[in-house]
Amino acid sequence: MLVPTKGLSLDAVATPVLIVDKDMMFRNIGTMMQRYKESPVSIRPHMKTCKSPEIARFCLYAGAQGICVVKTSEAWVMAESGITDILITSPVGHPTTAQWCAELIAKVSDVKIVVDSEAGAQMLSEALKGLETKADVLIDVNVGQNRTGVQPSKAVALADFVAGLGNLNIVGCQGYEGHLQFLPMDERKEKSAAAMEMLVLAANSMRKNHKITVVTTGGTGTSTLCAATTGITEVQPGSFIFMDVKYRDSLGDDAFGTALQVMSTVISKPLPELATIDVGWKSVSTEYGMPEPVLKDCVYTPAGDEHGTLSGAGAADLSVGDRVMLIPSHIDTTVVLHEFYVVMQGKLVSEVWPIATRGRVQ
Ligand SMILES: Cc1ncc(COP(=O)(O)O)c(C=O)c1O
Repeated sequence: MLVPTKGLSLDAVATPVLIVDKDMMFRNIGTMMQRYKESPVSIRPHMKTCKSPEIARFCLYAGAQGICVVKTSEAWVMAESGITDILITSPVGHPTTAQWCAELIAKVSDVKIVVDSEAGAQMLSEALKGLETKADVLIDVNVGQNRTGVQPSKAVALADFVAGLGNLNIVGCQGYEGHLQFLPMDERKEKSAAAMEMLVLAANSMRKNHKITVVTTGGTGTSTLCAATTGITEVQPGSFIFMDVKYRDSLGDDAFGTALQVMSTVISKPLPELATIDVGWKSVSTEYGMPEPVLKDCVYTPAGDEHGTLSGAGAADLSVGDRVMLIPSHIDTTVVLHEFYVVMQGKLVSEVWPIATRGRVQ
């Protein structure tokens, strides 16, 4: 059976499959939440990484203010699962998505979205007019990533324009410094301080005309640094929940451990020193480097869409039928290749969680 049932032994689960170490995941969530328990800064974990309402609920239960998603279609899935306080961290750029967004906000008023252009704000405003409803929005400020966000010097003018539309309430601003997440710590500290100064200055300049209560920012690599800046009210890390090889090797914070693995099976031994496993580009991503086999002296190399090879001294002892766990180098793009997580308790399946916002890229 493709989807394993509770109580099934790990040995009987079909591969490739995502295996969650629930204890480690809870430890990661607990550690992050603890950092903000006594802090004036709140935490709104980003669900773009794990894409799971179950995990979102664990974060909320552990003390998160709300959640973030990137796209409106993801927000719909999260809202339909009963989660209400959702920030959509990417602006809309087309009347169709603006319409979906407005329809969601008409149903769930706690859904908020960022805006970074007059055109995008106008599309949202038009869609809301048709539904006779209003929306809370945050001005997205470009703090150096050059991906989305209005230039800090133009933030006030945009905020004035947005407020003038009549049905968009400005409640805060966002500035995401994604380009800094993996920098060496000294450089990361210096550059994130500069980015946060830009964001706080933009927030303060908007405060003259608008009620800016939320100043939100930060990923797993920078959130602790961002939260130390006066004026930041909220952080939005996501990868800390599962971690991956890229973050493990660059974070400089041992508090978080890898909690997600791809389980593979050896399906062939084309050469004595080479084992072929059933994991290729369709089940693990490689744009951040190779996944790491949880097997000594063993290296993974993709061998096409559906296959990969394991080489090195560790691979020589493998036989057809052996299972090998891989730690993904990049969780986001690995997770979306799968339909569900298998959650283990010891050697038995305890739960299966759908990756519910998989494919929701609109
Ligand atoms: C706007 C925004 N906030 C937060 C995050 C979470 O970052 P991370 O996965 O590095 O924790 C991302 C990730 O891309 C993001 O785009």
